[in-house]
Amino acid sequence: MACSSEYTWQELLSTLTELFSYEEVDADKVIKVMSGYKSDPRDWAQYAMFDPHRYTRNLVDRGNGRFNLIVLCWGEGHGSSIHDHANSHCFMKMLQGSLKETQYHWPNNNKRNIPLDEKFATHHNIDDVTYINDSIGLHRVENSSHTEGAISLHLYSPPFQMCQTFDERTGHQRSCKVIFHSEKGLKCIPI
Ligand code: SIN
Repeated sequence: MACSSEYTWQELLSTLTELFSYEEVDADKVIKVMSGYKSDPRDWAQYAMFDPHRYTRNLVDRGNGRFNLIVLCWGEGHGSSIHDHANSHCFMKMLQGSLKETQYHWPNNNKRNIPLDEKFATHHNIDDVTYINDSIGLHRVENSSHTEGAISLHLYSPPFQMCQTFDERTGHQRSCKVIFHSEKGLKCIPI
């Protein structure tokens, strides 16, 4: 039997806004609230825009400047680079399909050209919620399915515009600007 939602989509948004109005972020509480919403495509379909070539980031809410809530759409085989989270909290809830997350240790800056050390890999399925920040490590997310797209809901707090991406074979890092494919259901004009 399917579990019923403890929070509607609107209640999820308002509860997150309330939780992030405080100085301290209670990550366990955020995970509980995001877990309490059960995915229903009627709530988020307006944000779910796919691109044939890469995963898309679709902004849902700016959380009064305290967080960005984003629907990410992953076509078959799409994945992110290994990246950090710019000192922000990262919460990820699965809305549809399945995604593989691989976590890595930070590279040792005293040793150059050494492959990144993998911590573990796991799969997240519909309604799962996971959390990472820079003290936990780095990660990459990918849709390893060849037949199904996947959709996830990410919350980043505080919001960030730049993060670091890492080469798995050498540990080399570079700065990367994060962009939106759409905002509040409207496709962004490429600049
Ligand atoms: C992103 O927000 O673009 C990265 C998603 C992820 O791999 O966690």
